Amino acid sequence: MTDRPRLTTTSGAPVSSNQNAKTVGRNGPVLLEDYQLIEKLAHQNRERVPERVVHAKGWGAYGTLTVTEDVTKYSRAKVFKPGSQTEMFARFSTVAGEQGAADAERDVRGFSLKFYTEEGNWDLVGNNTPVFFVADPYKFPDFIHTQKRHPRTNLRSATAMWDFWSLCPESLHQVTILMSDRGIPTDPSRMNGYGSHTFSLWNDNGERFWVKFHFKTQQGHAHFVNEEAEKVIAKSRESYQEALYGMIEEGRFPKWTMFIQVMPEGEEEQFEEKTGWSAFDLTKVWPHSMYPLIKVGEMELNRNPENYFVEVEQSAFNPSNVVPGIGFSPDRMLQGRLFSYPDAHRYRIGTHYDTLSVNKPKSPVHHYHQGGEMTLGLATNPDAYYEPNSFNGPVEDPSVEEPPHKYAGQVGRHDYRGHADHYSQPRALFELFDDGQKQRLFGNIAGAMQGVPQFIVDRQLAHFEKVHPDYGAGVRKAIAEQGRDDAEASLSTSHSAAAE
Ligand code: NDP
Ligand code: HEM
Repeated sequence: MTDRPRLTTTSGAPVSSNQNAKTVGRNGPVLLEDYQLIEKLAHQNRERVPERVVHAKGWGAYGTLTVTEDVTKYSRAKVFKPGSQTEMFARFSTVAGEQGAADAERDVRGFSLKFYTEEGNWDLVGNNTPVFFVADPYKFPDFIHTQKRHPRTNLRSATAMWDFWSLCPESLHQVTILMSDRGIPTDPSRMNGYGSHTFSLWNDNGERFWVKFHFKTQQGHAHFVNEEAEKVIAKSRESYQEALYGMIEEGRFPKWTMFIQVMPEGEEEQFEEKTGWSAFDLTKVWPHSMYPLIKVGEMELNRNPENYFVEVEQSAFNPSNVVPGIGFSPDRMLQGRLFSYPDAHRYRIGTHYDTLSVNKPKSPVHHYHQGGEMTLGLATNPDAYYEPNSFNGPVEDPSVEEPPHKYAGQVGRHDYRGHADHYSQPRALFELFDDGQKQRLFGNIAGAMQGVPQFIVDRQLAHFEKVHPDYGAGVRKAIAEQGRDDAEASLSTSHSAAAE
């Protein structure tokens, strides 16, 4: 015996051998009674949980949010107490690739944050882009189908992507960001994060403000062009994991400055009258000139997880996790996400996903949910298992009720995306690009359109032209210069029916 701990079964009994199966004689068959062998094999069969249906490939780390400014006039949330420090966990991800996908691919990056506040967990499940491809949750599963594999070829389909985008011009803004230099950040520390949606804040006086959250990288933006990314991927599919894990191990802690944009409740009507954009349309930003960035504090990542599966794979972010002082908005995409994420977690990691270490709030948790698979722990007050009760069970706190919303209107399937101006904001972005950025944008789009049928290319070019004549002409020229790659064209999928 050594002083090392004794190997045991999962029920705690010592194990005599972890080398040899129990057989009948030296060359005989294995016995069914070798339960430890059976358990080992059975356990291995259950080592994976389903990967996330989107954002499957990710990288995570713990850190701290330090609030350096006073924004308490907008929100009563404890997390915004001036000078406060709140522990947090971040997970970055690509959207389309599976768990084994390469990190340095052109894609939007997820930017998920979980703040363990003293009044419960606040999750901000955003991206590295301030906008999204679609504005209605009805469109999300369709959009994601175009990003994933074609059911017949099992290949990604450029045809599906451009077919969908060209039929949904509200996607132009996000497509332009995706195809710009910012489409392949070099590593997670070199990109901004955005809450993207309009959320709300409410203060001690019951006043509500609409809000957008921004996290600006302090490391500076850095991106790969396609050729550089290809070289990185040829060497390593794990370049983001290596970079994030490595910099934290070396004590080079990445930081972001947190800002908010604030719009007093009621002003959204003037905003829409003035600009033609809904303040709750996820495909649009609020221009900084109208709603300047207000500094809140700084986020630093400074601790690597000990176990990737336990902490990163089992992390479960919910846009529905808000705390008193922070609320939702009528953004219909956000409303759809409030249902979708907790539903995904119950399926992916189980009913009690919130009791797993990475998800567990650091504030007290008291509720009346009962039982279910893998219920951990015993109730401290077993007689109070229903509500109301006379046995000192937990009670509600009306002081944390958020101010009422003033909604009125006709119930119906209202189409606002059809009326909105989808071209001015991509134009504002396009006009920010210098000539080199524009040329790379054209080249990236032309490359991504390889193999796409001409009628779809033409439909998309018409949108680019509406954004800016130079945008349309630039992409057209880049397509002509790159020529048609027949190998890619022949792999392009099932477009004949639509083309005919
Ligand atoms: P501003 O000139 O005040 O802001 C421009 C913004 O564009 C900055 O936030 C900058 O981010 C960002 N930016 C620069 N290059 C890129 C790129 N390749 N991809 C994505 N973002 C980039 O203008 P407005 O507020 O009037 O917005 C103009 C356009 O800028 C918008 O239509 C939108 O496309 C884009 N944008 C606007 C944001 C907003 O919240 N208003 C946020 C992000 C982008 P950084 O400071 O980090 O360099
Ligand atoms: C992950 C649904 C829009 C950012 C997911 C997951 C689902 C989902 C089911 C997997 C969750 C899991 O298994 O853990 C939806 C739906 C949307 C939507 C239905 C629209 C209606 C968005 C938008 C953003 C976003 C607009 C960003 C602004 C993310 C991120 C993750 C994610 C960052 C990964 C979370 C993590 O790190 O674990 N989404 N999504 N999604 N989504 Fe969305």
